[in-house]
Amino acid sequence: MAKTRIEHVCTDCGAAHPKWAGQCNSCGQWNTLVEEVALADVANIGPATAPACSIADIDPLVSQPVTTGLGELDRVLGGGLVPGSVTLLGGEPGIGKSTLLLQLLAAWPGKALYVTAEESAQQVRLRAERLDAVRPDLWLQAETALPHILASIDDVNPNFVVIDSIQTVHDPSLGSPPGSVVQVRGCAQQLVNVAKRTGVPIVLVGHVTKDGSLAGPRVLEHIVDTVLAFEGERHHALRLLRATKHRFGPTNELGLFEMAGHGLIGVPDPSKLFLGDRRTGVPGSAIAPTIEGQRPLVVEVQALTTPAPPNVPARRTTQGIDNNRLALLLAVLQQRARIPVQTQDVYASTVGGVRLVEPGLDLAICLAIVSAITDRPLPPDLVAFGEIGLGGEVRQVSNAPRRLSEAARLGFKRVIAPRNSPGPEGESLRMLRVTTLPEALAAAGLTG
Ligand code: TYD
Ligand code: MG
Repeated sequence: MAKTRIEHVCTDCGAAHPKWAGQCNSCGQWNTLVEEVALADVANIGPATAPACSIADIDPLVSQPVTTGLGELDRVLGGGLVPGSVTLLGGEPGIGKSTLLLQLLAAWPGKALYVTAEESAQQVRLRAERLDAVRPDLWLQAETALPHILASIDDVNPNFVVIDSIQTVHDPSLGSPPGSVVQVRGCAQQLVNVAKRTGVPIVLVGHVTKDGSLAGPRVLEHIVDTVLAFEGERHHALRLLRATKHRFGPTNELGLFEMAGHGLIGVPDPSKLFLGDRRTGVPGSAIAPTIEGQRPLVVEVQALTTPAPPNVPARRTTQGIDNNRLALLLAVLQQRARIPVQTQDVYASTVGGVRLVEPGLDLAICLAIVSAITDRPLPPDLVAFGEIGLGGEVRQVSNAPRRLSEAARLGFKRVIAPRNSPGPEGESLRMLRVTTLPEALAAAGLTG
């Protein structure tokens, strides 16, 4: 038998090094190299390759997506799950990954296999009852050893498989301990081979660490076809589903769910949800028509300012908004619009637990802050969108007509928008076109 070779694998990028070093010379991360048994020496895996043929002879219909029965998931996947594809569903513990997949399994047409490597079969059965997911065609296996899982896939012959989670599955022949880079990568690769060979779609659950990256090797993201991120504030009911990688369609679609007593419910009209508890006539609140993927979302931005105590740096606290973006907007407000924000503690957040990084939100953040400082509320029928440049200019952003029609649908009457933005389709919205941030503040009635 060949002697086992030890190599040092980076837990971040998956690169293998013959010797240990403090820094990975592939991705530059520090202290990420761990000792592993070399994968190539313990398992010779690789998909059976098909012979070359003309691209015209390949049947595109074989990889048409199959609808999952969950509308919001289909939206993110661009129609559904593609046969033979492998999808990684990442998210923090407790966010609802197992719940989402159990609902998917309940709605799946045909025989499906759910491998639970974390919870007992009884726990899953109890949850399935709550989710109304108990059906004879849903097969369940509480197992962590990959060879047994592969054997059941052969025995049960399902047309859909879920592995919950990939980090708790291990293959004894790989030598390394469960959860190690070699284990996670090796097990995922074998499951990918099964999916490609049989045409059965497989979903792998992956836990993410606090900083949002998938625990274990990033290389997992290269092995699979699709990476879905399930996010949300644990204490809010709203859950956001995005594709961060998708080989079969766009990656910018957003799916929205609400966690309820009987599982996750799709949210077809999120703007209504975000504006549900809104109080009008309150200083520090601004409404922005934003875009996530192709989906318009009208959200409320709130700001609160208080004078900072002397001799300590002013606080800038955000929720749902990027901290650096807030710092930039405050600098522009100070320098280009002469708003005295330097001496103020500033708190800014989006309402409803939604996290937005879209530049179209800039103008509404600025209006909310100035409204808070001046203690003047914005008109209740006003929305605003536009990116703010460092020169204090209001710049165009994508999808203006969609933003406008969503704002009009929700009954707003006036919109502050970048000068050159395309106008609304109907007559119901009045455009207040602005070139600079000071013009926008004046149009909103906050200055002058
Ligand atoms: P879970 O799917 O176990 O999360 P993950 O697999 O990502 O770790 O979801 C756990 C949370 O969801 C738990 O805190 C309870 C809550 N939950 C509901 O609110 N309603 C439900 O119907 C279910 C099944 C769970
Ligand atoms: Mg779970």
